[in-house]
Amino acid sequence: MSAFGAIRTPRNIVFGAGQRSSLPNYAKHAGKRALIVTDERLAADRVFLEMVDGVRAAGVEVKVFSGVIAELPVECIAAGVNVGKAFGADSVIGIGGGSCIDAAKVIALLLAHGGKASDYYGEFKVPGPTLPLISIPTTSGTGSEVTPVAVLTDPDRAVKIGIASPHLISETAICDPELTYSCPPSLTAVSGADALTHAIEAFTTARREAGPTLVHDHVFLGKNAFSDHYALLAIKHIGASLHAAYTNGSDYAARESLMFGAMTAGLAFGTAGTAAAHAVQYPVGAMTHTPHGTGVALMMPYVMQLNRDWCAPEIVEIGNALGVTNLGGSTADAADATIDAIADLFASVGIPATLADLGIVRDELSTVVEQALGSVRLVKNNPRPLDVPTMNLLVDASFTGDRSALSAPKNERKAS
Ligand SMILES: NC(=O)c1ccc[n+]([C@@H]2O[C@H](COP(=O)([O-])OP(=O)(O)OC[C@H]3O[C@@H](n4cnc5c(N)ncnc54)[C@H](O)[C@@H]3O)[C@@H](O)[C@H]2O)c1
Ligand SMILES: [Fe+2]
Repeated sequence: MSAFGAIRTPRNIVFGAGQRSSLPNYAKHAGKRALIVTDERLAADRVFLEMVDGVRAAGVEVKVFSGVIAELPVECIAAGVNVGKAFGADSVIGIGGGSCIDAAKVIALLLAHGGKASDYYGEFKVPGPTLPLISIPTTSGTGSEVTPVAVLTDPDRAVKIGIASPHLISETAICDPELTYSCPPSLTAVSGADALTHAIEAFTTARREAGPTLVHDHVFLGKNAFSDHYALLAIKHIGASLHAAYTNGSDYAARESLMFGAMTAGLAFGTAGTAAAHAVQYPVGAMTHTPHGTGVALMMPYVMQLNRDWCAPEIVEIGNALGVTNLGGSTADAADATIDAIADLFASVGIPATLADLGIVRDELSTVVEQALGSVRLVKNNPRPLDVPTMNLLVDASFTGDRSALSAPKNERKAS
């Protein structure tokens, strides 16, 4: 098969301890009046205030909007747009976790094109470039600083909803691991686990026929030569650092490696896409009010087991990147050893084991199945086709904690 590669990426990506000092110059080139989008916690932080001063010292007028709320309820977007309009913003800088960066993306979109967030839900609805956007993450997790998607909570929708468009990609992403030193262990675990699921789902997602319009037909293109490269790089870095950064937040080498992994995972899934673990988390997160990273990481070993016979060689490559040592025996055995290692890693950073642990009750499982299958953008990416019985199997196993029922019967296996 001939190689196909595509990558959707910011114009500038800067990575390294202390690299937030590159912000003023990028801000100066992005515009003259910058709206800085963040949350209340960060707006009072000394390092944040120094960054704002640095932008001002470069001759850029600044207005700070600090009304972002975690998991991004849509009302806070409208408030940010009003502040940006009144200020006459010509550029946007998002500083914070994934919620702040997603807010900055959507505010930059609405300031450029008007309307409300719901006008752009779905894929390819953004008509053109947004205001120039600089994104600076303070968690090692979502990769939102490099991805073409923003995820919102809308009270009119049962589950979280996305706006996906190449126009949403930041012009510049600045990843400074020093900004993550203040993350408490639980946030390090949950956001880092989200990043690892991005890399695993990107690496195992379905590959599409590379026809002449593939890159224009889908925002998320499926597995390809570039996304594979970034996914394996991310798995290697996150696998080596997640537990260390969780147990010792002053392990700066681990902090750096984790952030590098989260950003490269963003490059991988921002082009390839994610799949079933993310599809199931959307309803589960809405029903239990648990963080995105907790839900996707909990689901990941079950999803890998469900998909094993559709992508066993890829799962073994993931095991190699993670440094799993017992990869002998058949491909299926090595894939199982990798899935066990992922489950152990997530358990070691406090990710719960079952949907029941998150507070889901049996009566809610059919709603989870129905709403998960409604995430067509994610479901179509899964390597094993997902119909109602297969999704039932997945959700039921992740409720009871029994992964053994998930591998396909031998006669239905695609690969072994
Ligand atoms: N756009 C994408 O590509 C993408 C991908 C995955 C997830 N998401 C979305 O991102 C959001 C999750 O983002 P997140 O996991 O980064 O968390 P978050 O942005 O929701 O932040 C969670 C909490 O951590 C705090 N926080 C952030 N940085 C901190 C730091 N350095 N020190 C101490 N506290 C800090 C925040 O103030 C907030 O209270 C969800 O809404 C999810 O749906 C987006
Ligand atoms: Fe995610």
